[in-house]
Amino acid sequence: MKNILVTGGTGYIGSHTVVELINAGYNPIIVDNLSNSKIQVLDRIKTITGVDVKFYKLDCTKYDEFEEVFKNEKIDAVIHFAGLKAVGESCQKPLLYYENNVGSAIVLLNLMKKYDVKNVIFSSSATVYGEPKSVPFYEYFEVNHATNPYGETKIMIERIMQDFTKVNKGFKAILLRYFNPIGAHKSGLIGEEPVGIPNNLMPYITQVAIGKLEYLRVFGNDYDTVDGTGVRDYIHVVDLALGHVASLAKFSNDFSWIAYNLGTGKGTSVLELVNAFEKANNIKIPYKIVERRPGDIAISYANADKAKKDLGWSTKYNIIDCCKDSWNFQNKNPDGIK
Ligand code: NAD
Ligand code: UD1
Repeated sequence: MKNILVTGGTGYIGSHTVVELINAGYNPIIVDNLSNSKIQVLDRIKTITGVDVKFYKLDCTKYDEFEEVFKNEKIDAVIHFAGLKAVGESCQKPLLYYENNVGSAIVLLNLMKKYDVKNVIFSSSATVYGEPKSVPFYEYFEVNHATNPYGETKIMIERIMQDFTKVNKGFKAILLRYFNPIGAHKSGLIGEEPVGIPNNLMPYITQVAIGKLEYLRVFGNDYDTVDGTGVRDYIHVVDLALGHVASLAKFSNDFSWIAYNLGTGKGTSVLELVNAFEKANNIKIPYKIVERRPGDIAISYANADKAKKDLGWSTKYNIIDCCKDSWNFQNKNPDGIK
C-alpha cells in the first residue's frame, strides 16, 4: 500500500494527515475543490515535508471530473475528508449539505467500484452518537439520530459505506469518529482557518487572544459538569492525523467495515480549556457567561480503547500542547494562510 488518495486534503485535518502520510513513507494525492481551503496550503506542505504533492482541483460530487483521477492514478486507498462541516449552515442549507456530503460519498464509492479501489477511510464524527445516556461514548452505542443535518450526513454516509462493503466482496471501510480536533502542526505553517466568526471554541479563543474578538462567550455554566460548563474531548490534530496513518495498516485484515473513536478519552470543560490556554501562552482570555447554545450537549468524550487495541494508536499530545500549537498558528498567520 503506497498511493493514498486524500479528498479534502488541503483542509484542516486533511493537510495534517498528508504531512503524516509523507512522514510515514506514503505517496498522497490530493483532491479538493478549495471551497473551504487555500491553494497555498500546498506550498506549506512542501515547506514542511520537501514534497510537491500531486493535486487535482475538482469537486468530488462531479463524477466525470473525479473519474479523471481514477483513470490517471494507481490508488491503493482513499481517505475521504471532503465535506462541508458548519453545523449552523447545515440547518439553513440542508440540501447543500446532503448534496455535497452524501453526494460526494456516493460518487466516490461508484468510482472505487469501477476502478477496483477497495479501501476507504471516512471522516465521521462523534456527532453520530447524538445525545447518549452515558459517557464515555463507545463505538457500540446506537447511531440513529443527530441533532442537525450535518450530523445526519455523517450517519447516512456511515450507513451507505456499511451497506456497500457488506455486498461488495473485498471492499473495506474504516469509519473514524473524531471527537474535537484542535491544535496545529508545530511549524505553525498549517492549521485551522475558520471563515468569518468562528463557531468552535478553540478558534474563538485564539481570535480573542489576538485581539480580533473582544471576549469569549461561554455558552452556559449550569450543566451537570465539573464547573457547569460544557465538557468535550479535545484531540490534537496531529494525533488525529496519525490515527489515519495507523488505520491504513488495518486494511491487511479481513473485514467489511469497522468504526473507531478517535479521541483522548479525557473530558475538558470550557473553563478548563480557557485556563489551559492562559497558562500555556501567558495570555488572559476575557470571557462572559451567556445562555446555553441550542443543540449543545453537556458532556462528550470518547472511550478510545478499541483504536488502541486494534490499531496500536493512542494520543501523544496533551491539552497544553494543543493550546500552544493553536496559538502558534494563529500568531504566525494573523490574517490567515497567504
Ligand atoms: P475543512 O473544511 O478544513 O476541510 C474539508 C475540505 O474539503 C476543504 O478543503 C474543502 O475545500 C473540501 N471540500 C468540501 N467539499 C468538497 C467537494 N465536494 N469536493 C472537493 N473538495 C471538497 O474541514 P476539516 O475540519 O479538515 O474536516 C475534514 C472532515 O472531517 C470533514 O468531513 C468533517 O466533516 C470531518 N470532521 C471534522 C471535525 C472538526 O471538528 N474539524 C469533526 C468531526 C468530523
Ligand atoms: C460542534 C458541533 C459538532 C461538530 C463539532 C466539530 C454544534 C452544536 N456541534 O461541536 O456537530 O462535530 O463542532 O466541528 O455546533 N463553546 C463556548 N463558546 C464558544 C464556542 C463553544 O462556550 O464560542 C462551548 C460549547 O458550548 C461546547 C464547547 O465549547 O461546550 C465546544 O464547542 P465547539 O467547539 O463548538 O464543539 P462542539 O459543540 O463539541
